[in-house]
Amino acid sequence: MRQATPPDPALADPALAGPPAPGQPRTSPYQGLQPFAEPDAPFFFGRDAERTILAANLMAARLTLVYGASGVGKSSVLRAGVIHQLREQERQADQAAGAPRLLAVYLNQWSGDPVARLLGRVGEEIARALGLASPPGAAAPGGLAETLAAWTARWHLDLLVVLDQFEEYFLYHRDEDGPGSFAAEFPPAVDRAGLPVNFLIAIREDALARLDRFKGRIPNLFENYVRIRHLTASRAEAAILKPLARLNQLAPVEEPWTAEPELVRRVLEGVQVGRVVLAVVGRGQATAAAGQPPDPPIETPYLQMVLARLWARENEQGSRRLRLGTLEALGGPQQIVRTHLDEALDGLPAGQQEVAAALFHYLVTPSGSKIGHSAADLANYTRFSEDRVRAVLAALSAPGARIVRPVPAPPGLGQEPRFEIFHDVLAPAILGWRAQWAARRQAETAANRQLEQRARRWRRRQGLAAVLVALVVAVGAGLATRAVLAARTGQAATAAQAAALRQDAGTASATAARSNADAYIAQADTICTKGWARGRVQFPDRPPREDAQAHARWLKGKVGIGQATLRQWRDLPVPAPIDPKVAPVLDQYEEGLRVYGLAATLLANGYTELGGDALRRGDGIGQDYRRRAREAGFRECDTALPL
Ligand SMILES: Nc1ncnc2c1ncn2[C@@H]1O[C@H](COP(=O)(O)OP(=O)(O)OP(=O)(O)O)[C@@H](O)[C@H]1O
Ligand SMILES: [Mg+2]
Repeated sequence: MRQATPPDPALADPALAGPPAPGQPRTSPYQGLQPFAEPDAPFFFGRDAERTILAANLMAARLTLVYGASGVGKSSVLRAGVIHQLREQERQADQAAGAPRLLAVYLNQWSGDPVARLLGRVGEEIARALGLASPPGAAAPGGLAETLAAWTARWHLDLLVVLDQFEEYFLYHRDEDGPGSFAAEFPPAVDRAGLPVNFLIAIREDALARLDRFKGRIPNLFENYVRIRHLTASRAEAAILKPLARLNQLAPVEEPWTAEPELVRRVLEGVQVGRVVLAVVGRGQATAAAGQPPDPPIETPYLQMVLARLWARENEQGSRRLRLGTLEALGGPQQIVRTHLDEALDGLPAGQQEVAAALFHYLVTPSGSKIGHSAADLANYTRFSEDRVRAVLAALSAPGARIVRPVPAPPGLGQEPRFEIFHDVLAPAILGWRAQWAARRQAETAANRQLEQRARRWRRRQGLAAVLVALVVAVGAGLATRAVLAARTGQAATAAQAAALRQDAGTASATAARSNADAYIAQADTICTKGWARGRVQFPDRPPREDAQAHARWLKGKVGIGQATLRQWRDLPVPAPIDPKVAPVLDQYEEGLRVYGLAATLLANGYTELGGDALRRGDGIGQDYRRRAREAGFRECDTALPL
């Protein structure tokens, strides 16, 4: 059965979004997390040997099987290497010689009807190459082998067909078979004697075993295979330096782009496969990469991620040199990866973040090692439904995220792939994100619990049963406060209001998670709400100002709670972009507390008039504080001052 396609976590940083849209001029020499496609060929390096081997196999054999780990660079070498080379050759071929034309066709989409899709792609390629007004129509529904035979004979063609991301065929068509299906139509096309069409299947190695579906139908299915391995450091060095040289050549500028040799070394060190940088949260770091191979393998998605971010930063600064100092200012490869991870995870809907946090508990040990589990086992451990777990795993392993990846099951343990975190360098970042997520959750739960208790007391005291309903459902602390406020002003919450609040609460937590600034505001608002609620519980009724002693006691108690709130609030790290707005709010809050505290002391000691003056000054500061807090984006802290 077809799986729902999960959303790809959006990458907030355009530097990682990859090459330009078709038709747009290319400005960055690096690819980001996207695979290289045909137009990116001038910037593609390090895979000459694989390109030659793959092209030779595709030309010589009816079926070639290409497999490799997820993200190793299969699609890139096929598109920017093999397909690009074949199309160049075809363009330069001497058409007058009367030889059959050699057309390369690439397909990597497997949803819908794969037979129709494949014929559609072949038809488009024929129309493009021969200048036809529209693609030719298929001979009959299905009829893959017949149609290919008819088209190749009619236009005197040889076809080379690359079927990439073949694991997705199995994802979209779990059990398909029978007349017209790809499972039934593809083998006769491969087996048909004399058909001038060769195929290449590229598949992630974790899905290799699924090809068994074709085993009995395609003889010698596994006879001709090529494994794509990780790019090694020496070849990855070319993937760093040669795109810069190409950019200099294609868009010459006065000062050409260069890279510091020590920068290149540091980047390559940081993105090696299996270079475990163990960092237990709060317990420092230890590197465990004993016995370095002389030319270690490289994780190219992370190489691209680091290079894209570094290049964008140098460009912003008007530099034309990739420098170690800039990499270090960005926090090194690990910090770049951490930023990517935070952005990708914060971009997930709140419900998926919850699942992701639970999954990470099983995918990364507290000491920062990775473990692989099947989706079914993860669903079992986390007690989320398998559908939800699969959707989150798919989002986390999408090309724009590359946070987890499927790997083959150990021998003898079935066909279900295991999922593991994509790169060891992610482990500390994941532990950090998870700790932060848990703290946010805990703060919300504590605020809720306190508000529930408070509501119970209110209910006992004032008989406002409906308030409890509103408080229980107002999951977001801010909404809970709104509910309290509503009740205080006499608007008893109705069941309809409760339902609306519940819906709001979901939206509020999703929005809050969207960015660091939002997350900070949400956390601060939670702290303020808790303080406000404590104040209301412990000091519910304000004595009149004329009763100076009672008023002083009340005020002192409220200021004490305000100071505790301030301490917690100041402990929250403020995200740099909003610091200029938030800092004066905190200072103003502190000043308000100081003046109210002074007023309490004056009143308690019988200086009624001076105390009154101080109270008025405090109120003035309070008004100013409220305005600033609202402007800074707080939705609850603006009511946090005691009066
Ligand atoms: N030769 C190369 N030099 C530098 N970066 C590369 C190279 N090949 C691939 N990459 C980068 O590696 C990442 C993964 O590439 P690609 O999508 O081609 O891998 P894949 O094996 O097809 O992945 P998947 O298993 O998800 O299909 C991309 O960010 C791509 O830009
Ligand atoms: Mg691919």
